[in-house]
Amino acid sequence: MIKPDGVQRGLVGEVISRFEAKGFTLVGMKLMQVSKELAEKHYDVHKERPFFKGLVEFISSSPVVAMVWEGDGVVASARKLIGATNPLTAEPGTIRGDYGVSVGRNLIHGSDAIETAQTEINLWFSSEELASWQPTM
Ligand code: CMP
Repeated sequence: MIKPDGVQRGLVGEVISRFEAKGFTLVGMKLMQVSKELAEKHYDVHKERPFFKGLVEFISSSPVVAMVWEGDGVVASARKLIGATNPLTAEPGTIRGDYGVSVGRNLIHGSDAIETAQTEINLWFSSEELASWQPTM
């Protein structure tokens, strides 16, 4: 998910380009205004954390771009492309390392495990919104 800060800073194309250049396949994508309810469900694992309320408010404050990418090892690889949660410690060359300075404005969220990805895909997308296709060239 490209978060509100990533969308507002005009980084949607850059993020998509990095995933495309790596060789992953885009199978779902939508720009959407997130409800508080969806944001709370998505970040349920953090509900006891002090930053939870602010995080939910931020994610539902302006549009995000939700995406589903497919490919061998995509979850682990995407986390490397995205970089560490805190952009200040994320390696240069990663998305957060190249474009961010704040943990609360770290541009993008990526699923942390295959199981989480499945849960998040089900939360964010209906099956009709996902394309089943393989690149042929
Ligand atoms: P994300 O990968 O979306 O998962 C949880 C998010 O919580 C994380 O990225 C950060 O944007 C946010 N987060 C983590 N720690 C803090 C913090 N200390 N203050 C504010 N936001 C945080």
